[in-house]
Amino acid sequence: MTEPSYKPSRVVVVGTGAVGTTTAYTLLLRHRMAELVLIDVNHKKALGEALDMNHGLPFAAGVKLWAGGYEDCADADIIIVTAGASQKPGETRIDLLNRNVSIFKEIIQNITKYNQNGILLIATNPVDILSYVSWKISGWDHHRVIGSGTLLDSARFRYLIGSHKDINPRSIHGHIIGEHGDSELPVWSLANIAGTPIDFDDDERKEIFENTKNAAYEIIEAKGSTSYAIALALDRIVAAILRNESAVLSVSTLLQNTNGMSDVYLGVPSIVDRTGVRQILDLPLNPEEQSLFELSANKLKTEINKLNL
Ligand code: NAI
Ligand code: 2OP
Repeated sequence: MTEPSYKPSRVVVVGTGAVGTTTAYTLLLRHRMAELVLIDVNHKKALGEALDMNHGLPFAAGVKLWAGGYEDCADADIIIVTAGASQKPGETRIDLLNRNVSIFKEIIQNITKYNQNGILLIATNPVDILSYVSWKISGWDHHRVIGSGTLLDSARFRYLIGSHKDINPRSIHGHIIGEHGDSELPVWSLANIAGTPIDFDDDERKEIFENTKNAAYEIIEAKGSTSYAIALALDRIVAAILRNESAVLSVSTLLQNTNGMSDVYLGVPSIVDRTGVRQILDLPLNPEEQSLFELSANKLKTEINKLNL
């Protein structure tokens, strides 16, 4: 009699800095997978992080966790990339582009040497362009190369609206779309609470959006990096994939005539399931939103065109 085949679910996190370790810890606490692998160019750091998390296992999930190498990507369902340079106070995400593109050329080639069927989930900034770069370098189907996109920005937006209204942010429906960065835009025309419009005046809208867009600058100025909310956002995407949820999440994905824009990765509400991004939702943007969306797409296309891909 042949043994039944069984492949434990495996998530790999590449980059064990602030984002990678907080994400790994969140995935661990939420029992998302059977196996969790940590990879970093600084292997000693990955070893220390794995050891520290392993010592907590008697109080947590039955997860097998180790600091590994790229060969451990072979059986991975999802490979999350959080490696690379991060913003110093005053730097934009786009300022990181050249440094992180060269790091990504190496990382994506190392991953695809061992894995051809997994899902790549990119968090490193500038996340939309690096997701596009990862798609190009990997040669994988675009549905399986996903950026965290504007999921974090949408969470910040919902939190701020909820705070103004004294309503739980989970009951606020609102999306930030476009670049995860300075050209992003709020879709006020579709934001609602239980289907009812949100009655903010122009000043309130402006203040909430500015605070959403500038949140990372404020946090980096205060504590050097952001990590908790992005870790929860990445955990949300992992859950949607591994549980085949068909959840609508504003992740970064390849636009193919999406609101008239193509050949660029941007954050847009998308259906996420076990196959990755199954479909982008059609967004009936008003003319002002449409024009800002096009500006955001064109900004990133200009940056992509400067790269030697
Ligand atoms: P960090 O500096 O704490 O960690 C970066 C890690 O990457 C370090 O451990 C470093 O050794 C590792 N690394 C560098 N080159 C590598 C390579 N070639 N191979 C493997 N590992 C390598 O940075 P932090 O704060 O964790 O941020 C990481 C990235 O995530 C940044 O680009 C940051 O801007 C981005 N980020 C993105 C967010 C999003 O919403 N998408 C939110 C927060 C941060
Ligand atoms: C964030 O928005 C820095 O992209 C990072 O927190």
